[in-house]
Order: sequence, then C-alpha cells, then structure tokens
Amino acid sequence: MTAQRIYLDYNASTPIDPAVVAAMRPFLEDHYGNPSSGHWASIEAKAALATARGQVAALLGCHTDEVVFTSGGSEANNLALKGVFFALREKGYHIVTTRIEHPAIIEPCRFLERLGARVTYLPVDGTGRVDPDGLRRAITPRTILVSIMHANNEVGTIQPIEDCARIAHEHDVLFHTDAAQSVGKVPTRVNELGVDLLSIAGHKVYAPKGVGALFVRRGVSIEPLIHGAGHEGGRRAGTESALLAVGLGKACEFALDLTPMDRVRTLRDHFWQELQNQFGNRVALNGHPTHRLPNTLNVSFVSQIGAAILERLDGVAASTGSACHSGRIELSPVLEAMAITPEAGMGAVRFSLGRATTRDEINAVVERLTEILATTG
Ligand SMILES: Cc1ncc(COP(=O)(O)O)c(C=O)c1O
Repeated sequence: MTAQRIYLDYNASTPIDPAVVAAMRPFLEDHYGNPSSGHWASIEAKAALATARGQVAALLGCHTDEVVFTSGGSEANNLALKGVFFALREKGYHIVTTRIEHPAIIEPCRFLERLGARVTYLPVDGTGRVDPDGLRRAITPRTILVSIMHANNEVGTIQPIEDCARIAHEHDVLFHTDAAQSVGKVPTRVNELGVDLLSIAGHKVYAPKGVGALFVRRGVSIEPLIHGAGHEGGRRAGTESALLAVGLGKACEFALDLTPMDRVRTLRDHFWQELQNQFGNRVALNGHPTHRLPNTLNVSFVSQIGAAILERLDGVAASTGSACHSGRIELSPVLEAMAITPEAGMGAVRFSLGRATTRDEINAVVERLTEILATTG
C-alpha cells in the first residue's frame, strides 16, 4: 500500500492556484502578441502586463514603475546586489548582509568579492535574528548597500527590517530585502518596511516558477544584468512574458489577503503542541518563538538524523537542515550561524504549511512520527 501523500514543503514551492492557471490560460493559447508592438496583436498582452504590474504594486504598496519583472527570486536578488554595486562603484564597494541569507544572496556576494567588493556577513543570535546595533557598527563610509532577508526560508525567523532600514538610511546607504519567503505570509508593504529594493518569487506565492519581481524605489538607479532593448524601464532587457506576469499578478492579488494565514498559523501551532506532547524535551524549536513566519515549523528531533526521519516518513514532503557528507553530518549554514548544537541540528526537519494543509494531515504526520521515533528510541 502506498503511503498517503502529504505536502509540507510550501517554503520550497507552492502549487499554482487554479485561479492563477485560469488567468494565464488565454496567454498560453491565444494572446501571443509582443507587448511592445503597436498593432492589434499586442493589445491583450500590453494591457495584461500593465494589470499584472498594478497587482504586484498593490501588494507591495508601491508605484507601478517601481516593479521590474524578473525570472524569479534569484534573479531579483542578483539584480539588486550587482545592479547597485555596478551603479555605485564610484561611491563605494562595501556591502553588508547576514550569514543566514539564501544562496541567491550569498553567491552573488561571493562573486562581487572576486570583483573587489568587501562584504560583511552579520552574525545572528540563537533564534536567527540580527542585531540592528551590529549593523550600525558594520557600516563604513564606503558602504553602498545593506541586504537583509525579510524572513528566513529554513527557520522562518523574521528580521527587524524597519529598524535595519532606518539605520542604513541614517548613513545614506541603500537597503534591500529578500522577501521571497515573507510575501503573502506577513505584510510586505515597502513603505512600512522602509526598503529601497525588495525581491519576490512567484513560485513561493502560488504562481508559477520562472517569474518574480524586484521593487526598485523611484530615484534608485541600478545597472541591468541583461542589456538590450529598453524593457522594464531599461532595467531588464528581453520581451516580457505576459503569460508569467499575469500569473504573478493574479497570485499577488490573492496574497493581499493575509487572513488564510490565521488558519495556517493555528494549524502550525497545533502541530508544535502535539510534537511537544508526544516527545517532550526530545524536540526543540529552531527559529524565533514569535518573530516567525506563520507557516514554518523547523523542529529538531534531538539525537536523531533529520534525513533518516524524512526517509521513513514515506509520502511526506518536507526538508531537512542537515546533510551527510562522507559519513559526517553537516549542518546547514543557517543552523550553524544560529549556533545550534550538532546533536540538535542533525535532527532538524523543516515542515512548511500552506493554504491546502489540513488538520487531518498534521495529525497523520504526528502519528507516524510517533511510530518512527518509538522504534528508533
Ligand atoms: C529566501 C529565498 N530567496 C530566494 C529564493 C530563490 O527564488 P527562486 O527559486 O525564484 O529563484 C528562495 C527560494 O528558495 C528563497 O527561499
């Protein structure tokens, strides 16, 4: 008998909302015109692109000309970091970020270091939060950009973005946040956060893979990564995909309503309560107890191996925070930066819930975890 399939990996990717699919379908089947053309065949695509840009802008609380469509979160992050670095080379070469960023931030930083950038990777505390005073101390007269993720993909910890952005601005430094995980889960309005640049990724918010956006505040100039014709206000060349933009736009329209997250948070808290009831101090929570995404539960099964638990949780899609290399357990850089002990970290499993998660699914997973851990001791 095959095990019931349960999807608890929404931080990795979300299914496409059926209403998003429906909105996209005409652009797959019929409206093939180039949005930049001036004839009848472009009319639908041009209008759809404008509507989609408006939907993204409404979610972020920004102007439509501040939205640059990209191929996803990675490209948005690369455009922010490299775009600012190349545009402000005369001013400085120093970037401040954190040790717990997604590789789509860490790797462009490493690349820029090879080109002469100096990058400071701020530490985090045991809950995964950065200290705004640490940021203040790290800024120098040569700092051009601070990039701190809004919410962490592994443990869900939410950063004090408003405070950090204020500090950056006190020093006349631009502030970018990677909001790929937070959008649609917690408020992400750019003026409330106080950011100059913000990245989002379609497939984390019930839109397809291969589309995302970068918010670039009016007055902030960035060098494009892709040079060509003047699409996206000269910031990203290439004929826009009305199909993908429509998908992202529709998903952003739904993401404006955060009330579904109340139910998700309740389920997530029920899950954690049940795990504590079953396992007591054999489980530990990774991440901040309150400043955390409502859907994310990263839990350490102490003295266990996360990957081994997942293997036995047949049919359950979730992620682990450790990897086994040559017989040695290596913690993820995020758990390492949080100074999680190897004994706890090696047993870390990330469960991330979403709109379709049910209480029955959570109860089924708890039941199976109880069986598995009863046999492993
Ligand atoms: C925090 C964060 N930033 C960026 C990305 C990359 O986004 P994409 O897969 O759309 O390139 C992800 C995806 O895992 C993420 O979790």
